[in-house]
Amino acid sequence: MGFRSLALGCGGYLPERILTNADLAKSLDTSDEWIVQRTGIRQRHVAADGEFTSDLGTHAARRALAAAGVNPEEVDLIVVATSTPDQTFPATAAKIQANLGVTHGAAFDVQAVCTGFVYALAVADNFIRAGQSKTALVIGAETFSRILDWKDRGTCVLFGDGAGALVLRAVPSNGSAAERGVLSTHLHTDGSHHDLLYVDGGPSSTGTTGHLRMEGKEVFRHAVQRLAEVVDEALTANSLTGAQIDWLVPHQANRRIIEAMGKKLGLSNDKVVLTIDRHANTSAASVPLALAEAASDGRIRPGQLVLLEAMGGGLTWGAALLRW
Ligand code: UT7
Repeated sequence: MGFRSLALGCGGYLPERILTNADLAKSLDTSDEWIVQRTGIRQRHVAADGEFTSDLGTHAARRALAAAGVNPEEVDLIVVATSTPDQTFPATAAKIQANLGVTHGAAFDVQAVCTGFVYALAVADNFIRAGQSKTALVIGAETFSRILDWKDRGTCVLFGDGAGALVLRAVPSNGSAAERGVLSTHLHTDGSHHDLLYVDGGPSSTGTTGHLRMEGKEVFRHAVQRLAEVVDEALTANSLTGAQIDWLVPHQANRRIIEAMGKKLGLSNDKVVLTIDRHANTSAASVPLALAEAASDGRIRPGQLVLLEAMGGGLTWGAALLRW
C-alpha cells in the first residue's frame, strides 16, 4: 500500500487593480481588437506598489487552506512555483510560510516559468508518494508586471499578476486509476530553446532584474506541438482517451492554443476552463487560478477527471492528470 495525493481544496487571488486593453492602447501602438483577436485577452490584474509575489501567494494559500478545511499548522511542505520571486533569496516559499505562521516542514521554490505549477505539483506529489510529506501546499504566484518591458507591445500586453494554491493530502492508495487524487505527472525540458523566451537579466549575468523577451511565433509553434504530445502521454499512461476527460485546465497563454488542445481532446468548449480573457497570462499562477475558479463555482466535482497542461520558458512543458 502506497500513498496518493488527494486534492483537498484550492484558492486564487488577483490584485485589485485592473488594466484593460483600452488602458494599454492609450500609451502603446496596440488595440483591443488586435489583442482580443490574437490572444483572447481583454484585461489583466496588476499588483500594487509594495504588493509582492509572496503577498499574492499568501492570500491564495489562505483561501486554499480554508477551502480544504486545513489548519496551516498541518502543512509540512510548501512548494512555490515562481519566476518573479520577491528577492533572489530566500525562497518566496519561506516568506509565505512565515506569513502563514508556520515554522516547521520544508518550503522552497521551483522555477519552470509558465510550466512552474505543473512542476511544483509533480514535486509535491512525489514527496507524498515517497511518504516524506503528509500535507502539501502547492502554489503558483507571479508578478510578471515587474519584469515586462512596457514599451514592447509584442510582450507587455500578454501578461498579468496573480496567484493560485492547491492543498494536497497523503491518502493510502492501491494504485488504481479509479481512486481520487493525482494519477500521474509528466515533465519535459528542452534547454536548446532557452533563448526563445527568457529574461535579459539576472544576478549572475547582468546584476539587474532584466525584462521578458519572447519570440512569440516560435514559442506558439512549439507550444501546440509539445502540449499535444504531453497530453497524449498523460492519457496513455492512464489508459484513457480524450473523451473521458471531464475538464481541461490549461495554462492560459493564448486562446488559440487552448482551443487547439480542447479540439485535439475532442472536448466541447464548456469542458475547457478559460480565464485568459480576464487574467491574461499569469505564468505559473494561471493553472491554479483556473483550477480554483472552476472548483469554487462547482464546475469541477469530486470523482471527475481533470487534465492540467502548461508550456513555458526553458522550454519546459508538462501535464498532470487528477481525479478530483
Ligand atoms: O506562456 C508561455 C508560452 N507563451 C506562449 O505560448 C505565447 C505564444 N505566442 C503567442 O501567443 C503569439 O505568438 C503572440 C500573441 C505573442 C503573437 O501573435 P502572432 O499572431 O504570432 O503575431 P506576430 O508576433 O507574428 O505579430 C503580427 C503583427 C506584427 O506586425 P507585422 O510585422 O505583421 O507588421 C507585430 O508587430 O502584429 C504586430 N503586433 C502587434 N500589433 C498590435 C505585435 N504585438 C502587437 C500588439 N498590438 N500588441
